[in-house]
Amino acid sequence: MNDNLKSDLMEKIVALCKRRGFIYPGSEIYGGLTGTWDYGPLGALLKKNIKDEWWKSTVQLRDDVVGVDAAIMMNSAVWQKSGHLEAFTDPLVECKICHQRFRADKEDEIREHEKTHKEKVGWTSPQKFNLLVKAYLGIIEGEQSEIFLRGEITQGVFVNFENVVSSTRVKIPFGIAQMGKAFRNEITPGNFTFRSREFEQMELEFFIKPIEAEGNKWFEYWKNQRIKWYQDLGIKKENLRFRKHEEKEKAHYAKVAEDIEYEAPFGWSEFEGIHHRGDFDLSAHNLSYVDEDGNKFTPWVIETSGGVDRSLLFFLLDAYHEDGNRVVLKLHPKLAPYKVAVFPLLANKEDLVSEARKIYKTLQQDMMVAWDDRGNIGKRYFAQDEAGTPFCVTVDFQTLDDKTVTVRDRDTAKQERIAIEKLKNYFSEKLK
Ligand code: GAP
Repeated sequence: MNDNLKSDLMEKIVALCKRRGFIYPGSEIYGGLTGTWDYGPLGALLKKNIKDEWWKSTVQLRDDVVGVDAAIMMNSAVWQKSGHLEAFTDPLVECKICHQRFRADKEDEIREHEKTHKEKVGWTSPQKFNLLVKAYLGIIEGEQSEIFLRGEITQGVFVNFENVVSSTRVKIPFGIAQMGKAFRNEITPGNFTFRSREFEQMELEFFIKPIEAEGNKWFEYWKNQRIKWYQDLGIKKENLRFRKHEEKEKAHYAKVAEDIEYEAPFGWSEFEGIHHRGDFDLSAHNLSYVDEDGNKFTPWVIETSGGVDRSLLFFLLDAYHEDGNRVVLKLHPKLAPYKVAVFPLLANKEDLVSEARKIYKTLQQDMMVAWDDRGNIGKRYFAQDEAGTPFCVTVDFQTLDDKTVTVRDRDTAKQERIAIEKLKNYFSEKLK
């Protein structure tokens, strides 16, 4: 893809998201709030489908993983012990001309900024900037305690490690999974939702015996599982790769870190982090495990940490197609916000509308179904293509005679006639 097409694609996706109700700027009517985004009706459905698929593959289909849902607000001791108060920082530099601040390690963003000034830019020396977002809890001013909104959802899993072990039958190796919001005071939020200040993570902490070979085995296992998950949900293989972190960029808790990266229009970018956290966190919280033979030890942790918002953005970018003047989001059927749209051919023909309404209500029992009776059929198809709806069902005059409908496929635009009574089975096969 050449550079023009790439920057074009980003603009098209941002515009499509706003126009169709996937994503809006946060607090827009008051001028917005940098680094925050609101998901509209289509975006909320897509997000839910991504999370449901992740939960299904990570928790529901596995015998060795359980899920938790920990509080966002935690005792500040958690962040002190976990090292985040000290080390959850980015290097910040300031442009001496306009005083805009940047991350010193984002060289391309710094170079771009330098181009905006005619004179040679001078920079302040890098300072550590802590990313944790502060909040104040309590009802009496002056007696409120300062807390931190969680900068990673992970610590909620670690502090509950012993609770989970004693309240379930998990045995090492096993995992604890969680999804939820995280907050970071990012120095330069940007590239649409890619780097936000409020975002959602989906994470697995997988606890293993502290043996080097076991660590390597499980690290490789989870790397492969996670890249496969994205591929199975339709991300093109050639747009994905692994990248190992250099020593200097590793997070303070990581023994080894590798990213799954996606080739976004703004370059290869982190999709999900796979981290070997060793015993860093459980040791920090003074937690351990006793096996069936009574041996006490501190397990190691292999972590997979993905972003829900980043996934949503990359799924959209990867699914975007133009076919003449038709824009099609070729989202995997499991992710598509609406699975089927139902139309009566004409909105003013009572018997067509009532037949279509019956089909709509029946299919709704099993899936999200869209209804559209405005404008001509061609426009309705185009609108559903842009929303990523895999199938459209049209009730026409033939339906009234032979109880069949037209089913039109989003990706091929081909149509076939299907008996109404076979629709449920037809879609349960096609939407797998
Ligand atoms: N528990 C480990 C952890 O939080 P991370 O690499 O800092 O690791 C994991 O974050 C994932 O969370 C990233 O790969 C990305 O998908 C998502 N993420 C991190 N910061 C983000 C941000 N500012 N905006 C959107 N997503 C973000």
